[in-house]
Amino acid sequence: MAMPTPQAPSLLLRGLHKTFAEVVAVNGLDLEVTPGECFGLLGPNGAGKTTTIEICEGLTTPDSGDVELLGLNWRTNAEELRQRIGLQLQETQLSEKLTVEETLRLFRSFFRRGITVEDSIKTAQLEEKRSARVGTLSGGQKQRLAMACALVGDPELLFLDEPTTGLDPQARRNLWDLLDRLKQEGRTIILTTHYMDEAERLCDRVAIMDHGRIIALDTPPRLIASVGGEHIVEFAATSHNKGANGAAAVDPALLTAIEGVESHRLTAGTHQLSVRELHTAVPKIFSVLASQGLHLDEFRTHSATLEDVFVALTGRNLRDE
Ligand SMILES: Nc1ncnc2c1ncn2[C@@H]1O[C@H](COP(=O)(O)OP(=O)(O)OP(=O)(O)O)[C@@H](O)[C@H]1O
Ligand SMILES: [Mg+2]
Repeated sequence: MAMPTPQAPSLLLRGLHKTFAEVVAVNGLDLEVTPGECFGLLGPNGAGKTTTIEICEGLTTPDSGDVELLGLNWRTNAEELRQRIGLQLQETQLSEKLTVEETLRLFRSFFRRGITVEDSIKTAQLEEKRSARVGTLSGGQKQRLAMACALVGDPELLFLDEPTTGLDPQARRNLWDLLDRLKQEGRTIILTTHYMDEAERLCDRVAIMDHGRIIALDTPPRLIASVGGEHIVEFAATSHNKGANGAAAVDPALLTAIEGVESHRLTAGTHQLSVRELHTAVPKIFSVLASQGLHLDEFRTHSATLEDVFVALTGRNLRDE
């Protein structure tokens, strides 16, 4: 009796490289995304997220490496792949002269099967704009139309490059709800984002990219746990004695010796500690600073986020400052 064949991964990347002139955009990338997963690519500007996703979408040819989607590849199965995937580019150029409805009708015509134009308008909450020309839409409305175009072919695999950039907070939450529904329907979603909360909220697993490589890959809770403490304490201190302007010297060894303090980092005059037990560690941090004759200028705590994971891995911030 034949064994049931295991389902092919939704996406399989092996040894992917892409260089533009002198810029190495993707530098040896391996990745496997399983069916039904919502997978996030996270990284600073220029990390190679769009290049990676556009290679997956068959829009950019890699210099080397293998790309498989749904067990198929772009060399021999391009026609079938186009029918089964949906994509939203980081910037979509739609024809300005067409109306919302005409645009969706056009996109619907590319697919053998899919949802109705009416349903796609509803999904993107563009009912009031159905007869408006694309050129008159706001940035967020254009973004939602691009999302509707990605969904009109009822894709089983969806690529979204920064789907919520430029959306207002309410539209962002609506899009999160929509992505939840798409996940529940069993679709695989691969998205890029700069928003940590978005990645934490939506993604089953996240790959953190930097300089064309994946530097960490796991579920958001496990990535955050890898920082060592659940809390981040940040402070800036000046010395009483010197009345010095700027960061006062604190011996990091005194801080890391405190029970519950897992690590210390000093960036641009701000001390950052990752801490396990906030309520017991904080009073001890205060007393160490007092014993050194230091005065606190700033003191903040927050729960560790994916941003802190990036900082811990690279010593840099994920977002441009
Ligand atoms: N067509 C191109 N020609 C030349 N360089 C390119 C091209 N596309 C991308 N690059 C370069 O490749 C690197 C990766 O770019 P990519 O767009 O993949 O980054 P990203 O992670 O999507 O960044 P962002 O968060 O800003 O969207 C950058 O240094 C970029 O300048
Ligand atoms: Mg990009």
